[in-house]
Amino acid sequence: MTHTVNAPHTQLTGTDLLVTVDAVREVCDGIREVRFAGAHPLPSFTPGSHIGVRWGTGTQNPYSQNSYSMTGPTTDPDHYAICVRRDDAGKGGSAWIHALQVGDEVIITRPRSAFAPISVARHHVLIAGGIGVTPILSHVRAAVQWNRSFEVIYSHRPGFGALVDELGDLCGDRLTVVHDVAAFWSHLNPVLGDSPLGTHLYTCGPAVLIDAVATAATTAGWPAQRVHSEQFASAVSAGGKPFAARLGRTGVLVPVGAEVSLLEALLERGVAVPNLCRQGVCGECKTTVRGGRIDHRDFYLTDDERAEGDAIMPCVSRAAGDQVELDL
Ligand code: FES
Repeated sequence: MTHTVNAPHTQLTGTDLLVTVDAVREVCDGIREVRFAGAHPLPSFTPGSHIGVRWGTGTQNPYSQNSYSMTGPTTDPDHYAICVRRDDAGKGGSAWIHALQVGDEVIITRPRSAFAPISVARHHVLIAGGIGVTPILSHVRAAVQWNRSFEVIYSHRPGFGALVDELGDLCGDRLTVVHDVAAFWSHLNPVLGDSPLGTHLYTCGPAVLIDAVATAATTAGWPAQRVHSEQFASAVSAGGKPFAARLGRTGVLVPVGAEVSLLEALLERGVAVPNLCRQGVCGECKTTVRGGRIDHRDFYLTDDERAEGDAIMPCVSRAAGDQVELDL
């Protein structure tokens, strides 16, 4: 059976790819790996990149799209692989992917990098929490390929170690797997204290893990430029109090309901806003703000940019008051 892709092929844009499900595999309870193959060569990509997967049945918002880190080979790939944890409390994207079958056609975006390794780093400390292992595996493949110095700490619940075998094969004794907080810190703290100058630290996982690692690194004297992170999409809520977005160029007022993002409201109104990750990570949807206070929820803008208050990432951020005016 072939799923109906949620947008006609004629609506493929320059950043889209039409691919076919090549293989599916349950890697552990509730987590599924899906491999896509293309009719034409698939572009190589930077380790840690992600793709947007459009999903739906055609009766839903035609722009429904989830973003997933890529776990497969990065250079001249014969397939793209993603690993998706089913979230039954989510909007349905992960369940849709868990229902895909071999042969189904899917529209994806071209890979986009937002969590790339630093090629000149002297050593890489890679930390994965739960399904945050996906971009870390991509980093590990590249580190092995280019003979870079690295080590991995992978924290997951017993029985929920997605991709742990692949990671073990690539890492050997450079992989440490932990199942509780005490073991995690007893391994990481000495690493933070002893790593050679020029080491870079990368964390992917839930916000609480990322924040704790960043705080520990800062306390241990690591400069912010050597601490990198990527957070789960599910940790970001784009909902909140209803408000209105005024389109500054036309004066049109777009209401934004409690359960929809500003980006979704704009797209439904026919306002073209470029977007990719819908997680506040990639920067693609950055929109100039002419007025109104902003409730920033993204991971893209710097503190200084937030303080200036003239840009918003509408995929996750909202007005802090009743209205925000956009340069659209
Ligand atoms: S779409 Fe990526 S930051 Fe908004």
